[in-house]
Amino acid sequence: MDRLLIEGGGPLSGEVRVSGAKNAALPLMCASLLTSEPLTLANIPHLKDVSTMIRLLARIGVEASLDERLGVTLDSRRIAEPLAPYDLVKTMRASILVLGPLLARCGEARVSLPGGCAIGSRPVDQHLKGLAKMGAEISVEQGYIAARARRLRGARIATDMVTVTGTENLMMAACLAQGTTVLENAAREPEVLDLANCLNAMGARVKGAGTDVIAIQGVERLHGAAHAIMPDRIETGTFLVAAAATGGAVRLLGADASLLDAVLVKLGDAGADIAVEPAAIALRMPRKPKSVNVRTAPYPAFPTDMQAQFMALDAIAEGTAVIVETIFENRFMHSLELQRLGADIEVSGNTALVRGVTKLQGATVMATDLRASASLVIAGLVAEGETTVDRIYHLDRGYECIEEKLAQLGAKIRRVH
Ligand code: EPU
Repeated sequence: MDRLLIEGGGPLSGEVRVSGAKNAALPLMCASLLTSEPLTLANIPHLKDVSTMIRLLARIGVEASLDERLGVTLDSRRIAEPLAPYDLVKTMRASILVLGPLLARCGEARVSLPGGCAIGSRPVDQHLKGLAKMGAEISVEQGYIAARARRLRGARIATDMVTVTGTENLMMAACLAQGTTVLENAAREPEVLDLANCLNAMGARVKGAGTDVIAIQGVERLHGAAHAIMPDRIETGTFLVAAAATGGAVRLLGADASLLDAVLVKLGDAGADIAVEPAAIALRMPRKPKSVNVRTAPYPAFPTDMQAQFMALDAIAEGTAVIVETIFENRFMHSLELQRLGADIEVSGNTALVRGVTKLQGATVMATDLRASASLVIAGLVAEGETTVDRIYHLDRGYECIEEKLAQLGAKIRRVH
């Protein structure tokens, strides 16, 4: 199993390019199932989750070809079997995103129920209720969701909570339904908008994406298209926090500041100087960071996917911070590992109290999920001495070439097998 060795203490400085967004790439790849013509996606990040999705789509019958310029073409002319098996779904929950498109295109789908996961129970009941409202017959048999519908019908669907992949699944299914579907309480995440833009380029009629009411007028068929995946706002935020925590100065090329309002405000509050350019963000941290309180909530509020990284920043900041996690019930696993590095963190329910300490000290820590891993890397970059981050397969799921990019910014980091 790979691990990262980090010799901490130095500031990050220099330029690095932001990759395409994982959480946009995964639903976009599933959108290829809606058409028999090829869908070409540019700016695809090279990540474990993306290769898992390619394997899942291949299993369904989709032909994928990668080009040398970060592009993938997905050809779903032939659907061999509308099935997402347990062995793939268990490694990547986003596999549930094939359910809506397969059901809409084939009239049936069997997708393994995703189990629990490190950050919370993460049910998919809203996806299923929404599809049932569109006329699907749904049952759970031997751990599999079995869904059937000759043709889905447009419906008015209000989800009980804001769900990102739930919105994406229902939006994709609705594209081929008969009549108009209205999604209320829809997720406003930029990845939902990126998907809607691609669907519209494929001939869909989606309106209102990016707001909490999305209307989708169903069409008979979709056609092929070419689409460039948006930059990864969470990768961007992670590198900005790493620069802020180490007292560095970085410029992130290809970053889109308009996707990161809540995060940039917090970094500013922490004392960072931020310059927004048309296709880049520059950050300089000329002082010791100040503690910042964080409360996660659906977009455009502060993202849960940046909570762990801010906990690492608060761990070495001046003052005491309160971090409240409102999206996932168990997303503080990193706090125990951060404490192994010397952080002073008290967790009670969904709230963490982080008292800034003057320094962290290197140790061996274990990653528990993707963003938790990122926070441990940030802490390792700050800590005195050597930090070993174990179980970095989590990181490889969602950060493209993280050690190369950090090394490019001057970090002393290497991967050992
Ligand atoms: N929820 C339900 N029922 C449902 C759907 C969601 O109870 O049917 C609950 C969840 O358990 C959670 C809340 O609603 O408490 C929000 O979950 P959501 O469905 O929005 O999460 P998701 O779609 O499974 C996506 C991202 C996550 C990100 C969350 C929140 C992808 C592939 N994943 O997950 O990304 O944390 O939205 O923004 O888009 C990551 O990249 O590290 C990651 C975990």
